[in-house]
Amino acid sequence: MPCTCVVGLQWGDEAKGKIVDLLTDSHDFVVRYNGGANAGHTVVCNGQTFKLSLLPTGVLRPKVQAVIGNGVVVYPPRFLEEVSNLRQAGVAIGANLVVSDRAHVIFPYHLEEERLNEGGTGKAIGTTGRGIGPCYQDKVGRQFAIRLGEMLHPDHLHERLVLIVERKNRLLRALSSEARQFDADSIYQDYLACMEQIRPHVADTSRLLHEALGKGQGILFEAAQGTLLDVDHGTYPYVTSSNSSTAGVWSGSGVPARKLDRIVGVIKAYSTRVGRGPFPTELDDGPDGIGERIRRTGREYGTVTGRPRRCGWFDAVATRYSAALNDADELAVMLLDVLSGLPEVRIAIAYELDGRRVDHFPTDAFVLERCRPVYETLPGWRLDISAARRLADLPAAARRYVERLGELLGRPVTIISVGPDREQTILAK
Ligand code: IMP
Repeated sequence: MPCTCVVGLQWGDEAKGKIVDLLTDSHDFVVRYNGGANAGHTVVCNGQTFKLSLLPTGVLRPKVQAVIGNGVVVYPPRFLEEVSNLRQAGVAIGANLVVSDRAHVIFPYHLEEERLNEGGTGKAIGTTGRGIGPCYQDKVGRQFAIRLGEMLHPDHLHERLVLIVERKNRLLRALSSEARQFDADSIYQDYLACMEQIRPHVADTSRLLHEALGKGQGILFEAAQGTLLDVDHGTYPYVTSSNSSTAGVWSGSGVPARKLDRIVGVIKAYSTRVGRGPFPTELDDGPDGIGERIRRTGREYGTVTGRPRRCGWFDAVATRYSAALNDADELAVMLLDVLSGLPEVRIAIAYELDGRRVDHFPTDAFVLERCRPVYETLPGWRLDISAARRLADLPAAARRYVERLGELLGRPVTIISVGPDREQTILAK
């Protein structure tokens, strides 16, 4: 049985959820290994639209074991809210959802810390405001972090919270005299109540996955965000705080990287980015421009925050880099239908930096900011392609565009998506 990873090659929101959903049936486990409730996965399943931010997409398929790995940061109220929403929609959630006892926990003081960091310094990253960064900071700092497994021991949890909250209050006050202050006892009571419901889902997920590997079962890893937001390999510092590339699979799930035998790199047919940071192919061309047209047609608004996404042409320099970084075996091209009706389409094939042509991707934000795209222009296609189900159904210009993406990234395109529904998919191989 395969071990597959579905990973985004851009700045997130590549519609990975649809690919995960398509591939889930051929796996026994679906694992999230990074991030937290900052992700936004929209999945259309049996005619219903589901929006998930913390739970793995695989949770929609009751026969599959959904796993939140140790690399994820968990906000317990959000976990319970998503579970409750799914149950209300008729999705069965029980033993089919487990969360690692080693996952770190997000507390209300993390949200406050992020609010102050983002608001006060003029150095905002444009985060989702879900406490992700401060929680990962505490994880790496070690003394003041709490893992989910510890929450199962009330006395221990209380002792830790008293110590940590007192320190957090001092730090927050130092950041701003207006900072919110927290009460350890009330956080303790709230989280204890959450844990009563979460307890049955908590497990040693690394062991579970190792046992699955031993039995030859299939595991599907779903990355949150995109490779260009990876804390080590992305456009630092305008990144998220986890490894959103395949680099996070090993550390974030306990499954060794060499067990992966299929890596599907997911790309949109154009580029988007939410939050701040350099974006060489951004189309900032006004209300009647192509950027706005892509935003409207592609419904490019954040799932988590509702923020309009910045839109632009496809960037083959950035994605060639991320495809190599992940060693993607194949590509899934998403939202191709959004480009229909444009007289021509463009792809950045290189950058110009200080008068010189650059073919590699500089990940330092301050260098990337100065890069200008060098475009290749291809003919567009007029026809609506949302009913296409085979390659031959696509207009020649759309086929050529997809073929060119594959050539530029040096990987075969195996899946093309022409709409949000499961059926609006072309299997190119
Ligand atoms: P954080 O992950 O909330 O700390 O935000 C850091 C950066 O990552 C910001 O630019 C966010 O907009 C971006 N980001 C986080 N999660 C996602 C996502 O799921 N899709 C797209 N961008 C994201």
